[in-house]
Order: sequence, then C-alpha cells, then structure tokens
Amino acid sequence: MAAKIFILILLIFQLLLLILAAIACFITTILGILFIISEMYSSLHDAPFIPSFKKAKDKMIEFSEIKPGEKVVDLGCGDGRLVFAASDKGANAIGVEITIFVYWYAKILQFVFKKKGKLIRGNLYDHDIRDADVLFCYLMPRQLNKIDKKFKEECKKGCRIICNSFKLPGWEIEKSYDTNPSKRRGTIYKYIV
Ligand SMILES: C[S@@+](CC[C@H](N)C(=O)[O-])C[C@H]1O[C@@H](n2cnc3c(N)ncnc32)[C@H](O)[C@@H]1O
Repeated sequence: MAAKIFILILLIFQLLLLILAAIACFITTILGILFIISEMYSSLHDAPFIPSFKKAKDKMIEFSEIKPGEKVVDLGCGDGRLVFAASDKGANAIGVEITIFVYWYAKILQFVFKKKGKLIRGNLYDHDIRDADVLFCYLMPRQLNKIDKKFKEECKKGCRIICNSFKLPGWEIEKSYDTNPSKRRGTIYKYIV
C-alpha cells in the first residue's frame, strides 16, 4: 500500500514538472515572438532597440551635467535606463518610446526597481521639447538628419544635446568621448544649442 502511494506521489510530481516545463516553453516562445515583432516594429521606425551600455550611459549622464529639477528627455528611451539615471540625479526626466513591447518592458523595470521618471508611449517627432534642458538621443543617422529641423526650431538656448554613437550632422561638437575605442559605436557627443 505504502509503495503504491509513493509511486502515485512520484507520478503526480513528474506530471507537475512536465506541466511547469510546458508553461516555461510556452512563455519563452511568446516572449521570443514578442521580441522579434518589437525589433521589426522598431526597425520600421528607423532605430532598433539597442540600449546604451553602462560606460556609454554613465558618460551621457556625466556630459549632461544635470541639475536637480531640470527637464530631461530621452528621445527613444528603450528600457528607460537613461530616464531612471537622470531621475536619480534629481531631474524631471521623461522618456518617449514608440515600440509597445519595449515601452511595457521599461514600465515593468520601473515598477520592479521603484524608479522615478515619466515614460510616454509615442513618437519622438511629435513630442514637444521646447522646455527641455537636456536631450538624450541614441538614434540612427537618418533619424538624426530628420530631427535636426525640430531641434533647430524647438530647442531653447543652452539646451544640452547628448548623442550616443552618431553625430548630429553639421552641428559643432562641444565635447566628445569614445567609450568603446575598439568598436565603431560608443562615442558620446555633446552639443549646446
Ligand atoms: C538605440 S535604442 C536607444 C534606447 C535608449 N535611449 C538608450 O540609450 O539606452 C533607440 C530606441 O528608440 C526607439 N524609437 C525609434 N524610433 C522612434 C520614434 N520615432 N519615436 C519614439 N521612439 C523611437 C526604438 O524603439 C528604441 O527603443
């Protein structure tokens, strides 16, 4: 009798393990599909979701010289890492992100790590940047070409623009720093309007 109960418990345990493995496979597949869709969606909007790596992020924050209460906007904020870092410096930080899955990923990270900052789902070209003190952008050259006119029309005098990897075409560089000398990307550029 005891042996039968033991075998039954063992079977139930194996069944539970099998169900858990099936659920894990299902969730991984769904997340994989969502990731691929989100990458395709971001690429359609010119810039894929490639977060600034730590050295680059730290240099961007250093170059921005944020003072508490200043308005900081990350145009295409990805997982929100620059928004959270700027908020930690006391900024009134906003991130604009177009890709829904990336936006929700940032929202979840914000909730889990109890980070401050406002995350907005939207198109960066429609976002009003008139009162921004600092703008972050890690965008592709064709996007920087497109946004150039908006910067010239909307940015207030003294606004600091910090770009990761790609230069603002025709703008005078205030200072730059290569955070990744062995690779093509990772140079941080600072501009002052
Ligand atoms: C290279 S990632 C940079 C993410 C973040 N700024 C960082 O430095 O870690 C560019 C982000 O911009 C977003 N993006 C691309 N085009 C956009 C648009 N038109 N409006 C808002 N976000 C956009 C992409 O979905 C992606 O998450």
